[in-house]
Amino acid sequence: MTRTQVAIVGAGPAGLVLAHLLHLRGIDSVVLERHTREHVERRILAGVLEHGTVELLTAVGLADRLHRERMVHHGIELLFEGVGHRIPLTELAGGRELTIYGQHELVKDLIAARLATGRPLLFSAEASAVSSDEPTVTFTHNGQTQELRCDIIAGCDGYHGVSRQSIPDGALTVYEREYPHAWLGVLAQTKPSSDELIYAYHDRGFALHSMRSPEITRLYLQVRPDEPLDEWPDERIWGELRTRLDRADPGWRLHDGPILEKSVAAMRSFVVDPMRHGRLFLAGDAAHIVPPTGAKGLNLAVADVKVLAEAIQAFYEGGREDLLDAYSATCLGRVWRVQHFSWWMTSMLHRTDDGDPFTRQLQLSQLRYVTSSTAAATSLAENYVGLPLP
Ligand code: PHB
Repeated sequence: MTRTQVAIVGAGPAGLVLAHLLHLRGIDSVVLERHTREHVERRILAGVLEHGTVELLTAVGLADRLHRERMVHHGIELLFEGVGHRIPLTELAGGRELTIYGQHELVKDLIAARLATGRPLLFSAEASAVSSDEPTVTFTHNGQTQELRCDIIAGCDGYHGVSRQSIPDGALTVYEREYPHAWLGVLAQTKPSSDELIYAYHDRGFALHSMRSPEITRLYLQVRPDEPLDEWPDERIWGELRTRLDRADPGWRLHDGPILEKSVAAMRSFVVDPMRHGRLFLAGDAAHIVPPTGAKGLNLAVADVKVLAEAIQAFYEGGREDLLDAYSATCLGRVWRVQHFSWWMTSMLHRTDDGDPFTRQLQLSQLRYVTSSTAAATSLAENYVGLPLP
């Protein structure tokens, strides 16, 4: 049996940023990750960081490579009825900007920073049980089952992780919505076709043009949740993207190139309340999932662990439990704002299952409104660049 102060289950952005914030406060932790290092460093996820996320990472010394390699954006485009409308985010949101930097690149930086502290981070370490009364994590590593005793457990192991599942039925209220769509995402070796992200509303379904670097484009298509990937050979993907991203502008062309990766991801909204059970604190996707429209998942995870690190510090320095007690309510205020924004963006931009004409008119009305009213565009902008961190 081993002991630490804080057991962190999961080495995604939530777990690794928390580990670093605790390290800077002189607090011990052990990070357990069930996948291999190669797996977590290669997993392609979203890539948009809010202004506040970058400020926090910078302040704690986790953003050196990010500042060298990121792309900075000041607006997005909403494309509908063949015409693009730019939303000048930075101008509308008090000078705040967006950073494009792949989540797996950030995870690589966070892993390197953790290893440099010399504090433990175990890969292929699968937690099988989490007990919040006498805080203990049971896990298997190198074929051996071990117990890790601690004062506090941070459940940062995602939607499918064991942390939330270990909480007894009835202790949490679950709020959930599944959407009748999914995103087929591709990573393509080609330069972006536009300087900014394009969110496209189209009668055949939503499409998104994003990017990772001047040589790599990231694109998404709305598909059905049960869409078989093998029905989407590369040529069909490019054809559909060309159709949905097409515009009246004769100078427009979608650049294509070799597809490096493709996958289908379901979309759901999910929140548990409270984000805590005894000495177990849930953070990031373990506590909440947002649909990807708006790219909020990682940012919300970072906001959670900022609050958690401050509460844990107060616990060790002054024996104070009040911030730990307030953790869930503090986080859920932001979580629900972001839930609403992500749901709203999703509802505005996705074709309904049956192409219902009434819904379509409402969507077009909303799109015309946010692209013509400064008040409406400002509301989108302040949510998109991210509200200030708690
Ligand atoms: C991405 O680049 O992966 C991305 C961008 C914007 C979104 C979602 C995903 O809303």
